[in-house]
Amino acid sequence: MTVVDIDAKIPNNVDLAGDRRLQRALESWQPRFVEWWKELGPVRYQDNDVFLRTAVSVGQEGWANFGHVKMPDYRWGIFLADAEPDRRVSFGDHIGEPVWQEVPGELRAELRRLVVVQGDTEPASVEQQRALCLTAPSLYDLRNLFQVNVEEGRHLWAMVYLLHRYFGRDGRDEADELLLRRSGDADKPRILGAFNEPTPDWLSFFFFTYFTDRDGKFQLASLRESGFDPLSRTCDFMLKEEAHHMFVGATGVGRVVQRTVDLMKEHDTDDIAPYGGVNVDTLQRYLNFHYSVSLDLFGAETSTNAANYFAAGLKGRFQEEKRDDDHRLLDARRSVPTVTDGEVGVRDAAALAALNETLREDYTADCRKGVDRWNRTLADVGREFRLPHTGFNRNVGDFRSYNVSPDGHVLSDADWAVGVPHWLPTDAERTHVVSLMSGITEPGKMAGWVAAPSTGINQRPIDFDYVKL
Ligand SMILES: [Fe+2]
Ligand SMILES: [Fe+2]
Repeated sequence: MTVVDIDAKIPNNVDLAGDRRLQRALESWQPRFVEWWKELGPVRYQDNDVFLRTAVSVGQEGWANFGHVKMPDYRWGIFLADAEPDRRVSFGDHIGEPVWQEVPGELRAELRRLVVVQGDTEPASVEQQRALCLTAPSLYDLRNLFQVNVEEGRHLWAMVYLLHRYFGRDGRDEADELLLRRSGDADKPRILGAFNEPTPDWLSFFFFTYFTDRDGKFQLASLRESGFDPLSRTCDFMLKEEAHHMFVGATGVGRVVQRTVDLMKEHDTDDIAPYGGVNVDTLQRYLNFHYSVSLDLFGAETSTNAANYFAAGLKGRFQEEKRDDDHRLLDARRSVPTVTDGEVGVRDAAALAALNETLREDYTADCRKGVDRWNRTLADVGREFRLPHTGFNRNVGDFRSYNVSPDGHVLSDADWAVGVPHWLPTDAERTHVVSLMSGITEPGKMAGWVAAPSTGINQRPIDFDYVKL
């Protein structure tokens, strides 16, 4: 088990004290990170005590501490999961070779790019969510938001450690850039499109953490397979934190669904907007939006980069070792969705080139689990959610130049325009949702559009003072 130096200026289990140059470099990045946090992190509550969990070890049991801390004093650190002895590359051209502890020279540029793109999403989401603290539906939710935010901050630390430790001068420059790009900034935007849209309200936040953070889960899970062992171990530990973000999304949407169903029954109507709730149709449209935007994050159906990353052993498939094929895919083929002759169909592709699509399908299967759970609640009022067709509302890949309806039909521009108000949130709906957002700061009290959670955090009651005011 790796020893965790929890009292160091930068808590870590990578023996930072044994590498003075690296330690100095990271200690000079640290104050700039805190400055960034204060400037672009949550717009309020920076001086309040928040009930947060902090990573203190990486073992199965008890890796986290819970306690009240002020966010700028959060103990952000560097944690790698324990090394697996005699670990070997499990896919691609180097299958069976010992994993690499240093960056192979010929893969350096690709690997740096992967780390930078992943790293950029972490501070981006903090920036996107910074105003949400003004309108939290409860103190419990406010605390969960801050937990997600500080952990995205720690994920940034995870990637910055890799850049500083393994990529020399250009790695340090990239680490600096990660603090300079700004979500939504016209001149210095974040790298990926979905991370430049603000998260305007808590309904969007719940759907974002369900769908968009889940893209993060799948990217991390495929990087955990990497033959570059430090990246694999970093992502392995990040996934433990990411599980909480999935939880916030799944239970957040679930609580909204519950409240919607309760209001429908209480008032015996589908239209509960006048009673301060969110209609099922509106929820479906938010779902359609966040799901389709998140599908784009996986990239085009076929991609030379994806094939190269896999062949080189940099990025595997989701749960690579559980798959019973040769893990090289040199001659394997598969079909990918596309548009042919004006209708949705498939085309044949090399399995290696189609790895983005393979990951996207695994992601969709995972998304469906939450939808099924929400549908059990909706069954009470005879309703259900559906995930739209993979071609719906896409801006990346084969479908980007087509209008595809949620049920998978290719439409003319005119028919699309008629359908859109039924499929994506309308301005009026967004306005209604925003109008429901009011900051509730009384312990245990919930906003009227969302049900209370079934339990509190770390065995605390729901009316615990998760944020001290
Ligand atoms: Fe993250
Ligand atoms: Fe996350």
